[in-house]
Parts: sequence; structure tokens; C-alpha cells
Amino acid sequence: MNTPERYTITAALPYTNGPIHIGHLAGVYVPADIYARYLRLTNNDVAFICGSDEHGVPITIKAKKEGVTPQDIVDKYHAIIKKSFEDFGISFDNYSRTSEDIHHETASEFFKTLYDKGKFIEETNEQLYDADANQFLADRFVTGTCPKCGNPEAYGDQCEKCGSSLNATDLINPKSAITGNTPSLKQTKHWFLPLEQYEDFLKDWILKTHKKDWKSNVYGQVKSWIDDGLRPRAVTRDLDWGIPVPVDGAEGKVLYVWFDAPIGYISSTKEWAARVGKDWELYWKDKNTKLVHFIGKDNIVFHCIIFPSMLKAEGSFILPDNVPANEFLNLEGQKLSTSKNWAVWLPEYLEDFPNQQDVLRYALTANAPETKDNDFTWKDFQARNNSELVAIFGNFINRVVVLTHKFYDGSVPVPSEYSELDQETLAAVKAYPAVISSSIERYRFREGSQEFMNLARLGNKYLADEEPWKLIKTDEDRTKTIMFVALQIAAALAVLCEPFLPFTAAKLKGILAIDSSDSSQTSGKSGSTESQWNDIATKDILIASGHQIGKAELLFSKIEDDAIEQQIDKLLASKKANDAEKMIESTTVEPQKETITFDDFAKLDMRVGTIIAAEKMPKANKLLVLKVDTGIDVRTIVSGIAESFTPEEIIGKRVTVLVNLAPRALRGVESQGMILMTEDPQGKLVFVNPDDKDVANGLKIS
Ligand code: 2FM
Ligand code: ZN
Repeated sequence: MNTPERYTITAALPYTNGPIHIGHLAGVYVPADIYARYLRLTNNDVAFICGSDEHGVPITIKAKKEGVTPQDIVDKYHAIIKKSFEDFGISFDNYSRTSEDIHHETASEFFKTLYDKGKFIEETNEQLYDADANQFLADRFVTGTCPKCGNPEAYGDQCEKCGSSLNATDLINPKSAITGNTPSLKQTKHWFLPLEQYEDFLKDWILKTHKKDWKSNVYGQVKSWIDDGLRPRAVTRDLDWGIPVPVDGAEGKVLYVWFDAPIGYISSTKEWAARVGKDWELYWKDKNTKLVHFIGKDNIVFHCIIFPSMLKAEGSFILPDNVPANEFLNLEGQKLSTSKNWAVWLPEYLEDFPNQQDVLRYALTANAPETKDNDFTWKDFQARNNSELVAIFGNFINRVVVLTHKFYDGSVPVPSEYSELDQETLAAVKAYPAVISSSIERYRFREGSQEFMNLARLGNKYLADEEPWKLIKTDEDRTKTIMFVALQIAAALAVLCEPFLPFTAAKLKGILAIDSSDSSQTSGKSGSTESQWNDIATKDILIASGHQIGKAELLFSKIEDDAIEQQIDKLLASKKANDAEKMIESTTVEPQKETITFDDFAKLDMRVGTIIAAEKMPKANKLLVLKVDTGIDVRTIVSGIAESFTPEEIIGKRVTVLVNLAPRALRGVESQGMILMTEDPQGKLVFVNPDDKDVANGLKIS
């Protein structure tokens, strides 16, 4: 029995500039959901909060690129992201958006409070400016070399390589992301949060209090920032997309997205509380509430230094109890990348693997990047499904349910005396809730998922050792006891799998016909200490004799090799298409030449021809000596194409030839014309050729 506690669990508000991929799910949303579901199952009072982060430069850049408004972009992706979360069973109590009025009001009020308390420094100084775009450059509007690690692709607010939080003016060789120009400097006024004034508070709060209970990757990053010394951080921007700065003299300025976004957790909580009739302040201001932020590692500085300093400056809020940030997930050995389309997008996954959300949740949890960056591979995904979910968990449940129907028409049998193994097995089952709880409470979700799978393994081993399918012929009473014990294990699994595999839990509860109340809907039954999770440890019987179970149904199905190969092919194909697109985008198109008259053009005599012989020019790497049938004659043409073609592959090729170019000698061979060529996006030469065999040699091109 646990004493119920109050938790505010937040998951990073995703930017609404694209759909969600497996990296987001593995790093933030699945662990947060496991935690929230577990806390509800153990009867705590939980507010699990998220929403769309709809401000910030990435959204304006995407809108510019697509020629639409930022509002169009956020409307589109808010709907897509929200649906993905629902589809994958991420059981938020509230999913809001930072464009909601309640958020604008909450963030403005927060800024105003700090302003009135004199917590900001108001300063006019020089910021990067792109005169052509008529725009100040901050955050992702500017890239350059990181002064800390030398990464040439750092952003104006952060270097994603070393995690440093930067000011745009720190960048070496800055470049505008809008025009590519080198920015100039221009004076502008902003409000800064003097983070250096919070150093003592942060040292005391994190370095002393949380040295032991925070993850070492989080603690280590925070310590190194504090040790490096903190500096004032601008909390306003010269932009037209965002929350207007709510003070006089701030026209044309908005709140910095990282000032408003974390306040989004508070506004989303307010929205939820108003809807369900709760007091939001208990979830943010009561010191008995535990605030836990689930984020990816690139968000650590904002959640462990900047937001806590904001909360401290405001004065009436609690601070996070923990920030269990994860490292990054790679995909098939490469960094996940939205711009390179190297990702598994959730809407696409569901199209290819309908109703298999839990398989992905499980594969991502079992291989979660909790302590270091990890790699997602489709082969591992297949193995997690086939060798664990199907072969261990699914197989155990199927055997129990099928045999219960076969032997007892689906009615849970009456056991007789327990053997020593039965007693040991039932005692082991009772120990599992505490074991899994301990993993989850220490944010070790992959360990928890493996412990859960160990219970299914235990069930399988029990059946394999006892062989009820054989014993039924000789000892009916003993078989009943074995099946009764196996059914208790199945009932325990139905509850213990819920944080990890919520869809499977619901299905299994349906099969066993046991209470299928969804914990995501039963948050915070205040005062009650009953919980199915705790029942497993305390009750001797989880599913009683005489209880009628439902029909057998497979929990999981095998994933074949061709489905996996298709995914790998799809990844490679999309990368190839993306590379080609990038190549075309980056190809510098030469400016058009001087205009010519029609008479100038008419002077060119271009004919269709066929290469009938080709050989390498001795001692010249680039040249081939060709014999070309031009329809007029067969002539020699020396062409600089030897690095793109072998002589053999071009014999018989149809080509376009400029035949009246004055002959010239190349390496002592007279070339009597020129073959027209161009380059493909990869830089390989290609012929400008009429490939239609019906086009006769000698035909004029005009
Ligand atoms: O990194 C991101 O996707 C940010 N939009 C996370 C914001 S978390 C919070 F503070 F809102
Ligand atoms: Zn860096």
C-alpha cells in the first residue's frame, strides 16, 4: 500500500513544424507515459501535461519555405502531432497549444510579474541583423561556428553538438539562415534575465540536493554549465511571431520562445484544471507536489537552469523534483534527421504496422537511450517482437487461455493443494510489482520492461516444467492447480504490462474478462489506497475459481523478414531522393549568357549522330577519341568525357553534334565538331541525345 502523492508530469512541448518521429517517442513521450500510467495505477494524483510549442523560429522558417503563414504551419502540425500521441496511447491529461489565449495570458502575466519585481535587465546593445531580410537574427535564423566546440553548424541559441547554450553574437562566422548573408550589427533593446544572479541558488538546489537522485548525464551537463559561469540571457526577440512583450516601449518585440514554452506547462495545467474542476495551483505551488520534466538532452539547459531561475524569480512556484532527460536515439547507425528525412515518422509507421503501437513502444523502451545514445534498427525491432512479445509473452498467454477453454470451457478451475513450486511461483509473482515499481521510480524504464518480460518468462517456464497438456490425461486435480496458478500469472501480467503496453493490457483484460478500467481515465481517486498494481503483492487470488474468461485471441503476431526489408528499403529510398533533391537545390545555376539574335543561332549546325567507335586518347585521362556518324560523314571528334564513360559503354549511343565548329587539334588529333553534354545532379556527364531510333542521323536540330 502506498500513500498517494500528487505529481505534475510534463513532457517537452513539441515544435509544430513537422510530425513526430521515433526519436521523440523514445526520448520523451513513451518514458513519460510509462511513468504517468504507473503512478495512476498505484493510485497517485497525476496531471500529465503537454501541448504544442507553436512559437519560435523553426516554425517561421518552415512557413517562409512553404510560402504559407506560420499559423497555417502550426494548425497543420498541431493536428497531426496530437493525433499521433492519441494513436500511440500517450495518456496526457491535457494537450494544449501555446497559441491558446490562456497561454498568451499566462506567459504575459509571468513576464509582467518578473518585470514589476525588477528581475530583468533592460539593455540596448548590438545584435546580428540581416539588412536584405530586414530582420534581426537570433536563434535558428543564424548559424555559425560554435565558440566552445568548433561545430560549424551551431545555431544562434544553442549548439546541438556540445549542448552549449549560446547568444547569437557568440557565433564565429555567423550566416543568416534566410539569405545566407553575413549579418551586420544593429542596436536594439531587449530584456535579459541575469542568470549569474541565480548561480548560488542553482548550486545549492541542484549541485547539493540532487547530486544523487538526478541522472548522471543531466547532473553532469548542468554542473559544467554552472562551473563555466552563467551570463544574462535575453528573454525577448525582434520578431513578429510570438507573444507580444507586455510592457511599454516593446513594440515589434515578442517573448523568446524558450521563455514562453515552459510556461506552456502551466497554462496547459490551468486549461485541464478548469475542465475537470481542479485547483491548478496545487499542481504548481504546493510543496508536496512532485514536478517531473521529461525531455531530450538538447533541452536540459532550459529545464535545469533557465526555467528554474524563472520560477525562482517569480517566487511562488515549486521547482522540478527531477528532470530525467534521455540521450538521443539514432536510426540504423545514423543520427535521426528531419531535414535529411532519416527518420521513422509515426503516421507512416501506423500505416505500415496497423494496430501495432505496442510493438514500437516496447522496442523503443527495451532499447531506450537512457544513459547513452542508442541505435534503433529494424532488425532489433523485429527481434523484440518475434523473440520476446510473440515467443514469450504472447505464447504464455495463448497457452493459458487455450488450455483453460480446452480443459474447463473457459472457467477458472478450483485448485487443490499447492506444490512447493506453486508456492515459489506465486511468491515470485507477488514480488514483481515492487521490482518493476523500483525500476520505474528510478526512471529505468528499459530495466522495468525487461523485469516485466521476466515474469512472462517465469510463466512459460512454469508451464514447460509442469506440462499440464500431458498431465491432464493422468492427474486432473493437479492440472487444475497448475492452470489456476498460470491464470494468476496471466492476471498479474495484464496489470503490470499496462504502463509499457497499454493496448495489449486492455486486450488481455478483455480476454481474461477482468476489470478493464483504463488507468489513463482514473487519475487521482483521492484518499483511496486500492490499486490493481498493489493487489498483486497483497492478494492471494487475482482471478477467482469459477470466473469465466473470454475467447482466445493472439496478442502479437510474427513480423516477417520482407516487412523489415521493406522498411529498410524505404529508408534508403527516401534518403536517396532527399540527397538528390538537396543536390538540385544546392546546384549553382550559371547566369544566362548575353542575348543572341536568331541569325546568331541559325549559324549553329547541330545534327543527330551515332558514336560508332571510341577509344582512349593515349596519355590523356579525360579524353576519348570518337568516330561519329553524323549522317553527312563519319568524322573524328575528341571529347573530354573519359572520366564519365568507358569507350565500350558509349559505342552505339545517339548524340547531338555541333558539326560546323571550326576543327581544332587536341594532342595531335584533329577534332571535327563537338558533342553536346550536360551534367546530372550527381555531377556525372550525360549526353543531350535524341534516343528515338527513328530519328535519322544527320537530322538538323533547330
Ligand atoms: O525542443 C523542442 O522541441 C522544444 N519545442 C521543447 C520545448 S519544451 C518546453 F519547455 F516547452
Ligand atoms: Zn558546440
